[in-house]
Amino acid sequence: MRVFVLTGAGISAESGLKTFRDNDGLWENHRVEDVATPEAFARNPALVQRFYNLRRGALADVAPNPAHVALARLQQALTACGGALTLVTQNVDNLHERGGAADVIHMHGELARVFCVACGFHWDAQCDLTPQSQCPACQTKGGPRPDIVWFGEMPYHMDKIEAALARADLFVSIGTSGAVYPAAGFVQAARERGIQTIELNMEPSHGSLYFDTAHYGPAGTVVPIWVADLMTAIKLDA
Ligand code: APR
Repeated sequence: MRVFVLTGAGISAESGLKTFRDNDGLWENHRVEDVATPEAFARNPALVQRFYNLRRGALADVAPNPAHVALARLQQALTACGGALTLVTQNVDNLHERGGAADVIHMHGELARVFCVACGFHWDAQCDLTPQSQCPACQTKGGPRPDIVWFGEMPYHMDKIEAALARADLFVSIGTSGAVYPAAGFVQAARERGIQTIELNMEPSHGSLYFDTAHYGPAGTVVPIWVADLMTAIKLDA
């Protein structure tokens, strides 16, 4: 069986990371236009770097929750019997990896990565960034920026994502409001291909009418139950 899982901020909420759309349009007390756009970075790089330094630093204070761990367990079990679980996340945290998942596709980038606007070099973030930070590849001062896909930018890995979706038997959306495209459109693409669709979320998302089945509740509870039921149904060993 080939399972395609799309996750959003809701899967990390019980780990203590804030979602995007539950605080009057503010993300950690900032308007997204002030911190999550290329224009904001051009206008005030110090503010944007500081904002992402804080987000990156906060990763050390949080841990994967039972939803991350259950998905990793399902991925390992499916892989062991010749199936697959493609894990695509809109999240920029690293909790899927720390929960044991492999080959996580970060379509909106990663807090733990940096790239240089001058030469395009990507690398692991070793320390905080400032407007004076220098690119290790081309030495441009001020070149390094968070490797985050900001509003108005093209999400990463779309070819790989579309190929995995086309091969899937089951599409599962977890902890996302379905407000941001292209991820919000994956469920319709899955349906058009006749793929079964399941939503696991705290509440019905914007695209809830496109799902064949839904289970509403906190991801830390709902995801492990769904994983256990699926593993029983398709006779996978835990
Ligand atoms: N368990 C399950 N779902 C939850 C939980 C929880 N504990 N807490 C909140 N949710 C649900 C909310 O009900 C909401 O539907 O998670 C969803 C979070 O939605 P958003 O805050 O819109 O996050 P997301 O869908 O990931 O946002 C998509 O928007 O701002 C951009 O690039 C950013 O990747 C982000 C994208």
